[in-house]
Amino acid sequence: MAQPRILILGAPGAGKGTQSARMAEHFDVEHITTGDALRANKEMDISDVHDEYDTPGEIMEAGELVPDEVVNAIVEEALSSADGFVLDGYPRNRAQAEELEGMTDLDVVLTLEVSEEELIHRLTGRRMDPETGDIYHLEYNPPEDETVEERLIQRDDDTEETVTERLRVYHENTAPVIDLYDERGVLERVDGEQSPEDVWADVQAVIEDAV
Ligand code: AP5
Repeated sequence: MAQPRILILGAPGAGKGTQSARMAEHFDVEHITTGDALRANKEMDISDVHDEYDTPGEIMEAGELVPDEVVNAIVEEALSSADGFVLDGYPRNRAQAEELEGMTDLDVVLTLEVSEEELIHRLTGRRMDPETGDIYHLEYNPPEDETVEERLIQRDDDTEETVTERLRVYHENTAPVIDLYDERGVLERVDGEQSPEDVWADVQAVIEDAV
């Protein structure tokens, strides 16, 4: 089987990162994530392309979108060296979706569906391991190892205030991208509110059906 080219969509906290890690391992594809790429470059000077903010870190902490030209360049470079991939966090508006069309074809487009109340609970309880990048949740998925537990950090944009703004930005900009793929008849919907294992079983079935 050729390596699949997968696009995963969904609101902040829907479980895109959690499921993408499984897809990358199982299907032996690259996990291309604009969120991680921007966090790794959060001090980059982008004052020439933004009127209000100087760095991606400031924009992310406010819950707003980083300018298209910055994320388009990140994705274009990452895609140029990937045969199969799972693309997570991009496109986030219709202009980015148009840009992506010129960069690659897609084998599967799927979205994880989760209620707003659950999204807020997941994001405010999420913790990250700064050493491994692994994702945990204080209630749903706490680490078993005490050393790991002690070094967990909360993402700067997982505070209640920023989460509210991220969800507003999602409804305004990214929900229309999901509608776009739906109108084209290529969107696969997965119930993201099940256990991570059950979500994974559905995600895997959708991908295997498509490729
Ligand atoms: P980004 O990093 O992409 O964040 P996001 O899309 O908001 O998504 P998250 O990473 O918050 O959630 P997720 O869906 O991956 O959920 P996770 O698996 O972690 O973007 C951050 C910022 O960067 C943006 O706000 C923007 O500023 C900027 N940016 C990024 N891309 C951009 C672009 N293209 N254009 C412009 N700006 C861009 O799960 C969440 C929690 O729930 C975890 O604790 C997890 O353990 C738990 N969990 C997961 N699945 C389940 C389950 N089934 N049951 C119970 N708990 C679960």
